Amino acid sequence: MIEIHPIEMAGANPALRYAWPAADCTRIPYGMYRDPDVFALEQKRIFQGPVWNYLALEAEIPDGGDFRTIAVGDVPVIVNRSRDGTIHAFVNRCAHRGATVQRSTHGNTRAHVCCYHHWGYNLEGKLIGVPFQRGVDGKGGLPEDFDKSRHCLRPMRIATLNGVIFGTFSDATEPLEDFLDTPFVAQLKRLFNRPIKVLGYQRQRIRGNWKLYTDNLRDPNHGGLLHAFQVTFGIARLNQTGGAKLDRRGRHNMSWAAQEMGRDHSDQEYSTPRDASKIALRDATLLQYRKEFPDNYNLTIASIFPNCIFQQIGNTLAVRQIRTTSVDEFEIFWTFYGYEDDDQSMTDHRLRMSNLVGPAGLVSMEDGEAIEIVHRAIAADEDKHAFVEFGGRGPVGDSDTLITESPMRGFWMYYCELMGIVPGEAAHGAA
Ligand code: FES
Ligand SMILES: [Fe+2]
Repeated sequence: MIEIHPIEMAGANPALRYAWPAADCTRIPYGMYRDPDVFALEQKRIFQGPVWNYLALEAEIPDGGDFRTIAVGDVPVIVNRSRDGTIHAFVNRCAHRGATVQRSTHGNTRAHVCCYHHWGYNLEGKLIGVPFQRGVDGKGGLPEDFDKSRHCLRPMRIATLNGVIFGTFSDATEPLEDFLDTPFVAQLKRLFNRPIKVLGYQRQRIRGNWKLYTDNLRDPNHGGLLHAFQVTFGIARLNQTGGAKLDRRGRHNMSWAAQEMGRDHSDQEYSTPRDASKIALRDATLLQYRKEFPDNYNLTIASIFPNCIFQQIGNTLAVRQIRTTSVDEFEIFWTFYGYEDDDQSMTDHRLRMSNLVGPAGLVSMEDGEAIEIVHRAIAADEDKHAFVEFGGRGPVGDSDTLITESPMRGFWMYYCELMGIVPGEAAHGAA
């Protein structure tokens, strides 16, 4: 059941301020990217709604007491492993007066102690210590009936799949494997097929709305146009074998491209620029794909609604978590990993290839810029619409071409369902 947010009680659903002229989400009102009230409602209905949010990887918290502090939407969260090996996640906000309890990004601890008045919580999020609970010399302190068990950190429900940890705030969320659906369960089992090791992190702040990024991920069409490096070195060829796979609801998307059967995509081919007189790679191994899965996919970008992406770009493996900070800004938190049984040469290769992605990535830095120039340019006209017809109109589904943006519409259709929007209807008060 969806909770009614105070914004809705005070008036109409802010998402209904904008007209949705197309039932198939081929038009997206710009106000959805700019309206702070829409952003506030998204926090309740999307990130705290009936979805599984990516939290962390089990390999990041291997031992009892290991923790990481993350964010789910704009809610700060601690995810940690208890002494008995179980994983827990809870809101990183003190049950006393709301301070951030754990201020380190990661570490190992016996308990999380708030710096303000030193309330302490165990690794299950239970309140275990309150200084001066009974006052001093019989004076002050908390009332006799204070019950620690009623003042815990707000827990999240947890589920894991092959070492990937997801959490939800909602009791209504379907089982994780149903939520992910067959293609994405298979993709996670493919990527996390054996023990991994984390290689490092990157963080990228983008001054734009978070949904411009989820749009970008569901638009493989831009890859061979926007990204000059890809075009120059032939990494993205829009005529290559590739396409998009969706779950049954169309809310998740995997853009994929395959090494063509019988063709040797050697580093020589990739590193030969279109105009060799102008530019060339000194180290061609940067783009050399070392086949490591039984299939031929050398590029898979699986975007799970609402907040994460599992990427395989060549041999660069990473999870990206979208952390929303305001209607106008979000952060991408990148966790790069390889496998425990990688030899040093493979680890070096993955790290070298990781230069392709991240805030200054050779094939991803333009995404941040594209998002920011959209976000700025649409500010003045919240009632106008984005045009989304590459890949056609009508229902969405899998496609066998990269010249499509219809996975974007799958995202928006599910988004509308959670936000209480019926696309195709006029805005409230509109003619
Ligand atoms: S706000 Fe945390 S102990 Fe007071
Ligand atoms: Fe891109």
